Amino acid sequence: MDALADIIALATTEVSAAADLAALDAVRVRFLGKKGVLTERLKALGSLPSEERRTAGQAINDAKDLLQRALEDRRAALEAAALEAKLAAERIDVTLPGRGGRPGGLHPITRTLDRIERIFAQAGFSVTEGPEIEDDYHNFGALNIPEHHPARAMHDTFYMDTPALHTGPGGAPAPGALLLRTHTSPNQVHIMRQLQPPLRVVVPGKVYRYEQVDPSHNWMFYQCEGFAVDRGITMADLKGTIAAVLGHVFGPRRPLRFRNDYFPYVEPGLDASVQCILCDGAGCRMCKGTGWLEVMPAGMVHPNVLRNCGIDPEHYSGFAFGAGPDRIAAVRWQIEDIRHLYQGDLRFIRQFRSTMRPPES
Ligand code: PHE
Repeated sequence: MDALADIIALATTEVSAAADLAALDAVRVRFLGKKGVLTERLKALGSLPSEERRTAGQAINDAKDLLQRALEDRRAALEAAALEAKLAAERIDVTLPGRGGRPGGLHPITRTLDRIERIFAQAGFSVTEGPEIEDDYHNFGALNIPEHHPARAMHDTFYMDTPALHTGPGGAPAPGALLLRTHTSPNQVHIMRQLQPPLRVVVPGKVYRYEQVDPSHNWMFYQCEGFAVDRGITMADLKGTIAAVLGHVFGPRRPLRFRNDYFPYVEPGLDASVQCILCDGAGCRMCKGTGWLEVMPAGMVHPNVLRNCGIDPEHYSGFAFGAGPDRIAAVRWQIEDIRHLYQGDLRFIRQFRSTMRPPES
C-alpha cells in the first residue's frame, strides 16, 4: 500500500504540473486509462488472497476517486485560464481612434444649391420646393405656352400615361395631362396663385427632359427657379440680383454679359453669361470658343403669366430666372462631363471634400 501512496503522490504532482488540457489528458491516460497504472492495480487484485482483496480494492478505488477529482479541478482551472487568455487577447480599446475611416463630402450639386440658396436667403428670398409631377397647365399653359405653341418643342417632355390626379382650371381629368416637369418655372404659378405679392422665392429641384444624353445633357438635371413680384420691379432689379449672385458664385471680378433670349413666360427675356473661367475669354473647349458661359436664363415675368395667376400686371411686375446648378457646378469645378454628377461613382465624388474650394471663393 505504500506503493499506492507513492502513485497518488506522483499522479497529483503530474496533474498540477500539466500545462494544458492535452498534457492533462496524457496524465489521465497514464494513470486511469485502460492500461493505466491504477487500472492495472485493480486488475491485479485477483491474485491477492480474498481477505486482503476487499481493503486493497477499497484503497485503489479511493485513490482513483482522489485522482479523478484532482484531474477535474485541474481541467476547470486550465479552462478558466484559457478563457481568460482568449478574452485578454480579444479585448478592444474602444477609446482608440478608428482606423481607415474616410470622411464624407457633400455632392457638388448639393454644395452649389446650398450656396445659391444661402445667397438668396441673405437677399430676403424664401426657399421652397414644388412637385416633380406636374400637369400640363402649370408646366406650360399658365406660363403662356398654349397647346401647339412651338416653344413646347424646346421641352422634350416625359408624359405620364396615368389618369390625371388633378387638372388645370376648368379642365376635366384626362390621360396624358400629367408629366414630369421640364423646368422649375411651374412653381412661379403655384406660388403666385397661392400668395399675394410682394413675393421673393427660390425653388430648387430636379427637372426631366426626354433628351439625347451627352457630356452636357442628361434626362434629369437640376434647376433653381427664382422670382420676385412686387410693385415697381424693373429690369434693373433683375440685373442687379443676377450680378450679385453670380459675383458670389464666380467671384466679383468675373465679367458678366446679358443677352436677349426668348422664353414665352418672360418679356423681355435674357440669358446671363459669365466670362469663361478656364480661358478668361480667349476661347477654349469649355466655352466652345466663345469666351462666355451661359449660366442663368431670366427675364421680366410676362403680363399674361401674372394675369393667369390672378395678379394685376397694371400694378405689379416681376422678374424670374432659372439657374442651372449642374452647369454652374460643372463650370466651377471644370467637370467636362455632367453625367459624372449623376453616376454616384465614389472615385468622382471623393474629389469633392469640404476642404476643396472652388476658384475665387
Ligand atoms: N424655365 C427656363 C428653362 O427651363 C429657364 C427660365 C426660367 C427662363 C425663368 C426665364 C425665366 O430653360
